[in-house]
Formats: sequence, structure tokens, C-alpha cells
Amino acid sequence: MAADKFNMYGLIAKKRDGGLLQAEEIRFWLRGMLDGSIPDYQTAAMLMAIFWRGLTEAETFALTEEIVASGERLDLSGIDGVCADKHSTGGVGDKTTLIAMPLAAACGLKIAKMSGRSLGKTGGTADKLASVPGFRLELPEPALLAQVAEIGLAVVAQTKNLTPADKRLYALRDMTATVDSLPLIAASVMSKKIAAGAGVIVLDVKFGSGAFMPDAASAAELARLMVKLGRSAGRRVEAVISSMAAPLGAAVGNALEVAECADILQNKPDLAVSADLQRLAVVLAGEMLYLGGLAECRRDGWQQAEAALQDGRGWQKLLAFLQAQGGDTESLQAGELVQAKHVVPVLAAKNGYLSAADAAQVAEIVQRLGAGRERVEDEIDYQVGVRMIKPAGAQVVAGERLAEVYASDLAQAEAAKKDLQRVLQVLPEPPQLEPLIWGLVDERGNVVPWAEVK
Ligand code: URA
Repeated sequence: MAADKFNMYGLIAKKRDGGLLQAEEIRFWLRGMLDGSIPDYQTAAMLMAIFWRGLTEAETFALTEEIVASGERLDLSGIDGVCADKHSTGGVGDKTTLIAMPLAAACGLKIAKMSGRSLGKTGGTADKLASVPGFRLELPEPALLAQVAEIGLAVVAQTKNLTPADKRLYALRDMTATVDSLPLIAASVMSKKIAAGAGVIVLDVKFGSGAFMPDAASAAELARLMVKLGRSAGRRVEAVISSMAAPLGAAVGNALEVAECADILQNKPDLAVSADLQRLAVVLAGEMLYLGGLAECRRDGWQQAEAALQDGRGWQKLLAFLQAQGGDTESLQAGELVQAKHVVPVLAAKNGYLSAADAAQVAEIVQRLGAGRERVEDEIDYQVGVRMIKPAGAQVVAGERLAEVYASDLAQAEAAKKDLQRVLQVLPEPPQLEPLIWGLVDERGNVVPWAEVK
């Protein structure tokens, strides 16, 4: 490409004025961003122009392809079996990966998952796993592939230099208030999934106060775009649309969330507050089995996943995978993974019915306790967080324990307790609860209400 064929100023102005970017113009931009010939302030301006003007599908496809081409790809072709992946657009207490992946692997899928760290209100699987003593998030590629071939499951932070353009773009979006752009989110997520190599990809696109997308309609729009991007790269992709209005399951906080997954996979009794999480994880695992051709229909996929949960194969798979990556599972098996210094109960102030907790508000409380990070370089405290005891809608009496705060510092625990008391309202009448799973975007891009999904 001639060095002077394009100039970044002209491309920014074109997008600012509503023009269309050609694939080679996007290539020029991303290459220049990575080699330093285009300064970050020009990329930031381009991102803001895209934020306002949007991208057409063709532009989004081109951007995704160029982000994939900016780095290496994971080659899973040597693995015998169907390689599948799952991605959630992120949420509060979203630990479905740690349940759905062992279930899907126990039913025969091969999973090599690259996982992200927590940022802002959304937790990351990598940080949850780091709360298991000794667990290694970095694996050399041959070890990763060998583990997937042998036990069917590996989860790593990142082995190779995948999608460096996304890393740079994301950092700039994060600094310039341009994260919440539908085509930028779609290209960012799908470029990473495509580079990570799996032929089957199940997405969990979330909406509500704890998610990027405010409502189900915008989540479905994002999902349709991501399904199309995956299909154009030759992958089988479907998306479940689910609510992130309230935290998912009981726990928010790293070790607490891993412990909740272990409880679910061991069928521990008294898990009413985890029922929504368990159901979503089974649905996602079943969806992976169906798309991967290991189940005759979706229902068969869900039933296979449920069976692996009930008979303990999922739990055994989780243990095998954690141990294969150096995790010491003794404390997890003994129910002692969570070792927070202070555990402070949140009690009901009166009789009534428990409201659903607002996901964004719970995320802020947990972040103030030290469980999340504002910036990528921030340290996090794996032991702190919040655990709901009562599910939304439950009838409660004054003095009953609604939730617990886990903290390293007593003053922080007391502050979190007060905040949580405001979030967990006790109402005179049972609240109207929204369904957790709203719908599905199938491979052809059809948006199907969940009640009609078979
Ligand atoms: N997750 C990503 O990986 N990228 C985005 O842009 C948003 C969420």
C-alpha cells in the first residue's frame, strides 16, 4: 500500500461527516495505530466519529477482519473433536463459564478458552480462577492444546499475541467514553473469538443495569450483528439474550463466585438463590452441545448438560481442569476457599418481600470492597464480596439474614452493609420479577422469544 494513498485526517473527517470507510482504509488506520505512524489522538477522534456515526455491517466486518489479522491465531485444528467456546458480554456475578464449560466438556466438547480480567462493573473469569491457590492462567501453547485434548477443557488468560489491535482500541475506548458503541463492541468481541479458533461459539448477550446494553432490544441487535460476524468467518454462532438487571446467582466477588459454582456442580441443597445461574449455565452448555452437533436438538442439549450436573461429571471435570492448571482444590473441596477476615450479615429491617437487587449498585459496593478494578493495572482482593442468602421475591421476616458482606476491613464491611441495606428493599407486596432469559438469536439471525425456543 502506498504510504501516501490515505491520510488519517481525511479518514476521520470522512467518518465524522457520515461517509463509509473501505476495508483498505480501515487496514491503513489499524496498521498505523499499531506501528505508531498514526498517533493515539487520531485514533481517539476516529473512535468518537464511529461512536456517533456508527458503522455499516460491511464496515464492521472489515474492522473485525483487520483486528483478527493484526495478531496471531490459535490453531485448534490438531484437536480431535468439536472445539467450542462461549462468551458473555459481561455482568455482575456472571460465573456461568465455570459451570457451563465443565458441563459441556463432560458431555464431549473440547474447549480452549481465553478469558478476560475484571474491568469496571463486570467481573472476569480469569480473576475468579486466580482465587484458586496455585492456579496458572498462563500456559504455553503446546501445554494448552495437550490439556484440551486430554481432559477437554483449559481456560487461560492468553497464550499468544491475539488481536493486539483490539487491546489498543479497547484501552483508548475506555479513556474516551467510546466503549458503548454497538459495532465497536461487536468487532471487539468477535475478533477475539474468531482468533481463538473454535468452530462453535455460544454468546450470552446481556442487558440491564449491570450490562453494556440497556434493554433487550439493543442486546438482540448486538447479538444479531455478532452472530453475522461469526458466520461470515465460517463459525457456527448463536446468542442467548439474558437479563443483567440483578446480579446472577448468589455471589459477587472472586473466591465467593468460584465457591458458588462448586456448590452448584455438587448439587448442594438450599440453592434457591443460585437457581437462575444454574439454569442459564445449563442452557448455555446445552446450546454449545446442540450447535456442536453433539445433541439432536436444543432440548436434548439442555438435558445432557443437566444430567452431567446431576450425576457429578461436571464437578469432576471442574476439579480435573483446575488441577491440570496447578490449582490446589483442597480448600474448594472442603468448602473453605473463602477466607475473608470479616463476614457481616445484612438483616431484614421488617417483614415483607425481598426486592431484586440492582446489578450496577451491587457492582459498585463490591468494587469499593476491593473485588474489582477501575484500571487494568489495579490490584484486586480475591476474598471480598457479597453473597445473597435470600432470592429476590422471597418472603422474609424482620431480623432474617438477607445477605452477607465479605471484607478485609471492618469499616469497609460496615459501609458496604449500609449500602446493601438500601439496595435490598423489603416490600409490602411480592415484586414483579423479570424473566432471566429473554430470547435467542439463532444462526440465521432470527430473534426468537425464549418461550418459543425448542
Ligand atoms: N467486551 C469486549 O471484549 N469488548 C468490548 O468492546 C466490550 C466488551
